[in-house]
Amino acid sequence: MMKKLFIQTYGCQMNLADSEEMASHLLGRGYALTEKLEEADLVIVNTCTVRDHAEHRALSFLGRLRQWKREKPGRHIIFAGCAAQRLGEKLKKTFPYLDLVSGAREIAHFASLLDSCGLFPSAPGGSPDQRGITGYVTIMRGCDFACTYCIVPSVRGPVHCLPSKEILANAACKAQEGHPEIMLLGQTVNAWKEAGKTFADLLNEVSALPGVERVRFVSPHPAFITPQFLEAVKNNPKIARHIHLPAQSGSSKVLKEMKRGYTREMLLEKIAALKACGFAISTDLIVGFPTETEEDFSQTLTLVEQAGFSAAYCFKYSPRQGTPAAQMPLLSEKVLEERLDILLNRVRGLAEAAYGVHIGRPAEILMESPNKGRTSDNFWAQTKKSYTIGSVVQSEVIDSDGTLLFTRD
Ligand code: 5AD
Ligand code: SF4
Repeated sequence: MMKKLFIQTYGCQMNLADSEEMASHLLGRGYALTEKLEEADLVIVNTCTVRDHAEHRALSFLGRLRQWKREKPGRHIIFAGCAAQRLGEKLKKTFPYLDLVSGAREIAHFASLLDSCGLFPSAPGGSPDQRGITGYVTIMRGCDFACTYCIVPSVRGPVHCLPSKEILANAACKAQEGHPEIMLLGQTVNAWKEAGKTFADLLNEVSALPGVERVRFVSPHPAFITPQFLEAVKNNPKIARHIHLPAQSGSSKVLKEMKRGYTREMLLEKIAALKACGFAISTDLIVGFPTETEEDFSQTLTLVEQAGFSAAYCFKYSPRQGTPAAQMPLLSEKVLEERLDILLNRVRGLAEAAYGVHIGRPAEILMESPNKGRTSDNFWAQTKKSYTIGSVVQSEVIDSDGTLLFTRD
């Protein structure tokens, strides 16, 4: 009987893509994917360490796997990703039943790690998982910034860009496999470059591949949103009109202490330019950075209003070992809770409002099921008629309930 693989992924889209990549190696070794832990023979826990909470969840899941492993002989556990990279081999002391630790930086050598541990011999059978409209393509890894709160640069290492030839071949392959939407991935995705080629050139080239209807990318850094970038993408409708642009704070003083490399005003300028090209903008915000005063926090609140984000993911500041901000005295948990609460209340209505704005406007929908798809600016839309999955429908939005757009056709 075929062995079964269960994958538990924490963290960002990058991790989802890495999970897919690890899965494809194991599918090539005779495993089949399962969504039921009870029937699995192998579990991969792909972890995140960006906040203490994320790491904690992964470790407590790993703790529960002790019993799971005891229940049936021949079960295995692989612990992968960013927390695995940070904690390394010392994990095996606390969790002696772990079979393999594979840090985020080792993803390129995952196959040889599998070989060298000897537990997962090659076997025929299995085929890549082809569900979903979106094909993920990693274009760069790592981060050359040094934001004072962030552990990613130390965990994922400096920037390494993949060659455009390889990226285009990968994207073409995904499109051929039936993914009309290509999502380009990297920790600072728009830092990608190559001699004579910019990130915008790459977006245009990927969008021109046969079978590609739409190109998205995540996560960009505001530093590389320039007039040149916008000039190069604004006439290409296949480049999705949504960008997830982490602001982190609305206070120029805090942004400086975070070493983000921009002020509130610079960010608002970039946001205005993106909006002029039709982009919807979602963001990440951190509350309770060590030096954040009431006044700084209120500037984050007014940024939310002024910027008109379509969504905001809000996080309580979490000190990460080895980062400069972790040396600073912390604000009290009570203050963090209060500020998070206030911010969450402010951002709650954003999506509903952003949906409402579409009424009466044209929409281009990439169908993910016969009656449902996503607009270029990343809103869910329900169509009146049925369409082929993967096709692009041009219509007009006639109504919205705040979570869904309804179209004329
Ligand atoms: N504490 C809280 N949030 C953080 N993020 C990154 N590091 C921290 C931290 N130490 C948030 C940022 C980032 C998102 C992925 O996680 O908002 O954009
Ligand atoms: Fe988590 Fe960041 Fe690593 Fe993604 S890159 S898994 S968010 S630590």
